[in-house]
Amino acid sequence: MTVLICGSTGRLGRSVTSFFRKQTTVVAPTRNEIDFTSKEALRDLIEAEKPVTVINCAAWTDVDGCEKNPELAKKLNTDLPQHLSEVIENIDSHLIQISTDFVFDGQTDKPYNEEHLPNPISIYGQTKLEGEKAAGPDATVIRTSWLQAPDELNMVKGILEGFKKAGPLELPNDRQANPTFIEDLLPIIKCFAESRFRGVVHATNEGTTNWCEFAKFIAEKTNNDPTRITPSEPRTLNRVAARPAFSALDNEVIRREKIQPIRHHHDAVLEILNKVN
Ligand SMILES: NC(=O)c1ccc[n+]([C@@H]2O[C@H](COP(=O)([O-])OP(=O)(O)OC[C@H]3O[C@@H](n4cnc5c(N)ncnc54)[C@H](OP(=O)(O)O)[C@@H]3O)[C@@H](O)[C@H]2O)c1
Repeated sequence: MTVLICGSTGRLGRSVTSFFRKQTTVVAPTRNEIDFTSKEALRDLIEAEKPVTVINCAAWTDVDGCEKNPELAKKLNTDLPQHLSEVIENIDSHLIQISTDFVFDGQTDKPYNEEHLPNPISIYGQTKLEGEKAAGPDATVIRTSWLQAPDELNMVKGILEGFKKAGPLELPNDRQANPTFIEDLLPIIKCFAESRFRGVVHATNEGTTNWCEFAKFIAEKTNNDPTRITPSEPRTLNRVAARPAFSALDNEVIRREKIQPIRHHHDAVLEILNKVN
């Protein structure tokens, strides 16, 4: 029961790889071992390994980089899932394509469910949306947002580090979405891999916020001074691509499928705070 993971060196891919390694055989080639832009290389790998599930965590996630180099963005974000869906056609394999809240334009104040029509406003969002379509009708497309990894300086740890330094703690407050803790996403990926669900699934922790509000919650729980939290000047963020101002996702399919709901991000934050204190 081999699981093939593409993008195993990335923020999400590292956790997905170690999670599935605890339960089954995992093949997780790096870009030094396989050219992810070559359909032939993917075909050779997939025909040799015959994975029961392919989880595609590989993408070009540099939103501003994608805006400057749409060709490379298309190769990773659209052509790769296209090639994966084509080469698994002849074996009994299920594709999980990881996608993003950036497929939406953000012109709303109500969380988007899976029925809402996407309307990307960046090359990253466009190429990821094309990648969802390219993954084909049999794939599970899991859209998520603001991924927080357990194994690196995530926003909770970053904000705690910020409080240790003197002066204001500058954070963006111009976007609202749902922080998503990867450890809460892993069981959802497993569940949809097993059920071979066809279609789009929104999967984020509950609770919409911006990074200033998020930091205020941490300040309140750790006796730090919330007045030190200051919104970043947008021009200091040096953004090239447009971002959706509001891209919270509503996990309607998870509710409909009667899958254990993903907890509120506050609960995930409190768990981390308990561990670090
Ligand atoms: N991060 C977020 O907050 C977020 C939010 C919503 C959705 N997502 C989605 O979640 C998925 C995983 O994101 P992530 O944050 O884990 O991404 P990431 O940390 O940027 O990792 C991307 C992965 O793709 C590989 N990759 C990128 N360019 C490549 C190239 N030219 N050739 C070969 N491999 C290449 C990287 O390999 P190297 O390590 O060798 O570069 C890495 O393994 C993506 O589909 C993303 O769209 C992420």
